[in-house]
Amino acid sequence: MTPRRRQPARRRTPGLGRGTVLATVPVAVAALLGAGPAGAGTTGAAGAGDPYFPLSGNGGYHVRHYDLTLRYRSGGRLDGTAILTARATQPLTRFDLDLKGLTVGGVTVDRTAASFKRSGQELLVTPRHALRAGQDFRVTVAYHGTPEPVTDPDGSADGWIPTDDGAFVAGEPQGAMTWFPANAHPSDKSSYDFTITVPEGRTAVANGTLLGRRTAKGETTFRWRETEPMAAYLATATIGTFQVRQYTTRDGIRIYDAVDPREAEDAAPVLRQLPSVLEWESKLFGPYPFKSAGSIVDHADVGYALETQTRPLYDSAPDILTLVHESAHQWYGDSVSLTSWKDIWLNEGFATYAEWLYSEQHGGDSAQKTFDALYARPAGDELWAYPPGDPGSGENIFGTPVYDRGAMALHELRKAVGDRTFLRILRGWATEHRDGHGTTTQFERLAERESGTSLNSLFRTWLYTEGKPNKA
Ligand code: ARG
Ligand code: ZN
Repeated sequence: MTPRRRQPARRRTPGLGRGTVLATVPVAVAALLGAGPAGAGTTGAAGAGDPYFPLSGNGGYHVRHYDLTLRYRSGGRLDGTAILTARATQPLTRFDLDLKGLTVGGVTVDRTAASFKRSGQELLVTPRHALRAGQDFRVTVAYHGTPEPVTDPDGSADGWIPTDDGAFVAGEPQGAMTWFPANAHPSDKSSYDFTITVPEGRTAVANGTLLGRRTAKGETTFRWRETEPMAAYLATATIGTFQVRQYTTRDGIRIYDAVDPREAEDAAPVLRQLPSVLEWESKLFGPYPFKSAGSIVDHADVGYALETQTRPLYDSAPDILTLVHESAHQWYGDSVSLTSWKDIWLNEGFATYAEWLYSEQHGGDSAQKTFDALYARPAGDELWAYPPGDPGSGENIFGTPVYDRGAMALHELRKAVGDRTFLRILRGWATEHRDGHGTTTQFERLAERESGTSLNSLFRTWLYTEGKPNKA
């Protein structure tokens, strides 16, 4: 039951001690970018204020829409034009975008050339005319190069990950900046258009609905559109030689599956169950939040799957519980997004608990049995290494405590409030925060409201207390 395949099998880089990153980065950023104290002046902050990923996202504006036009050539070169439609949330003489690697050819703001500077993962843009608070504006960035993944604090590769026939494109938590200029923090959600040109014979799969494909002069262009708000880390433009299957479910959800032929045989029996998994989850969690769905099954040694919005991405044929997990994220993580990476258990604990519920209702172990097996682990086990509601650093956000103890917290909640109320809480969470955001505190309040009981000590014990909790 441990979601081993979704987590890096091992740490690939020696971890920085807790607090190391936190202590040094903001200082370095302030020095590099000349940022004044928070709120001062008209310079957009270099980050969205996330303590684990201080440079992810930016201050001073909200991106309403991304229009990404990409051309990918065999060999790995990418040419891109990103048009961001944004709204200033403060007066801005300068703002940042997140972009790592690649070469920027030019930037315009409202069709007027803007000056720009690179500084680490920040692209600093100075528009010719300062922006007023509340002003809508359009930024165009032309860029090119051979994208490279970033290495996350947990040692895993993230972002544009080259494969033998294209690229596996997954951006959690910080990889979006490796392939497009973005306000790359989940607190900012936007709609997306993708126009992706690849050598004929390859397929480019992004989020949402396929609007059309056209082949000319040895290249095929795919046009994709995601209308529902999406966090940058959930965007994909995965490229490969894929077998494609398209159909519509009984509920009217449009499915697009793209499968690497080397994984096709193993993937088929699992992908076939997607409509029934989505139906089952819709009964528990409320209506499926998007118009389209599907799966991308690549053949790559990445070590995890990702809940890319509408169309989860697998590095090899998934098993059924992994499909259930990534599908559950469509509600918890994708439709209801984090405002801070610290709250990651709201994604991973929920998706893991969906696996427990699925097993329970499909002839496998009961959730109680899964809970008991985990609870039996000794106090020194990594399961108890840190509390899921406060993982402490970006290095820990995809660790066992977040997934398994996060799910255990939900199981304890279920036992405390009873099955009916518990399901009402799960559904209420997805419904009330649909296409939006939610925090742990808000979840706690909703659970208390729905159950009419104080849950403070339960949440404190299971989410915030160091070490193995005592059973209630
Ligand atoms: N959210 C993914 C899952 O479904 C895990 C992503 C892990 N990413 C990483 N960079 N380690 O569990
Ligand atoms: Zn997950």
